[in-house]
Amino acid sequence: MISTYIPYLDLQPHNNRFAQQDLKTFKEIHRTGRFIGGEWVNRFENTFASYCGVDHCIGTANGMDALTIILKAELALGKLPKNAKIVVPAHTYIATFLSVLHAGMQPIPVDVEELTITAQVLRQFHQNYDAIIAVDIYGRLVDDEVYAYAKEKSIPIYCDTAQSHGATSDTGVKSGNLARASAFSFYPTKNLGALGDAGAITTNDHDLAITCRKIANYGRESRFINNLVGVNSRLDPLQAGFLLNRLPQLDTDNQRRVAIASYYFKHLQNTKVSLHTLDFLKNNVVHVFPVYVDHRKGFVDHLDKEGIGTSVHYEVPPHQQKALQELNHLRFPVTEKLHRTEVSLPCHPLMTLEQLQKVVQAVNAY
Ligand SMILES: Cc1ncc(COP(=O)(O)O)c(C=O)c1O
Repeated sequence: MISTYIPYLDLQPHNNRFAQQDLKTFKEIHRTGRFIGGEWVNRFENTFASYCGVDHCIGTANGMDALTIILKAELALGKLPKNAKIVVPAHTYIATFLSVLHAGMQPIPVDVEELTITAQVLRQFHQNYDAIIAVDIYGRLVDDEVYAYAKEKSIPIYCDTAQSHGATSDTGVKSGNLARASAFSFYPTKNLGALGDAGAITTNDHDLAITCRKIANYGRESRFINNLVGVNSRLDPLQAGFLLNRLPQLDTDNQRRVAIASYYFKHLQNTKVSLHTLDFLKNNVVHVFPVYVDHRKGFVDHLDKEGIGTSVHYEVPPHQQKALQELNHLRFPVTEKLHRTEVSLPCHPLMTLEQLQKVVQAVNAY
């Protein structure tokens, strides 16, 4: 029974595909004796920038820092005021909110429509705000209309692309190239994951790119001159090397994730288990495949007994966390229901048809 258990995600076989290359990369970097910045980081930044179709990519230590640095850079450039009010979707991982707070700004949460913020949500939101952070939650790109709305209103828009590496919009634009700047996470479980923490900023704005690069490196102008209050958040060359090994596989892996999600849409049939509408699959690289049940524990226990691992994204929304007490009085019914009922099914590129059939059978038997 144990041997046939289908884990929610097992990173070992996933990474085993790159083991030989990774060892070679490790040896090469070890031999260079250069463990901060340098050729490998440059190579990853250039390769990822061209993959996303952007002019600039700046490696960072993780995804949350990437978003914080973008906002701090905008402040330094005078594009955002101190204490700026930043609209964020209530339905996201808390890192989106924290990055705004760490930049000395205020997160202004808005409820999502079905999953993400939409132009309709923004049109109906009448408070004042200075900027928007869109979040491609579960790998689903925020609709193009949101960017069009921000442009029409001349409101800067940034994107938290931590979950949408490689997703492509209706007009063929890649994740990372839709907003004024985007923040990627390469946390090991992400569609493009490193072997530790790693992140990156992408942008087409030259001044923003230069300022982000300085802020990520102590605010340094040059070796002994610091003109900005920066942080230490640099992409590790080893992680850059490991990411370079994985990037060529990303599109194939993403296609497989979409195929798995399509299979689920076709075969899952249980009135006690709700799915999103098929619109979910639009411009989506399916970082997470969510289903929704009223009695989460019972469903998770049932699947576990059937030999299927699951996850939850996420149990408690940011505005209800103790860490964000000033937001605890707010209510976001769509987000709260998503967080109360969501269960993530296994959806990773190495799943076999047999495993998929087993998941479908178990869900349908619930
Ligand atoms: C939506 C979202 N934003 C931001 C982050 C933060 O990324 P990291 O863990 O690399 O700091 C994550 C990942 O954990 C995420 O899922």
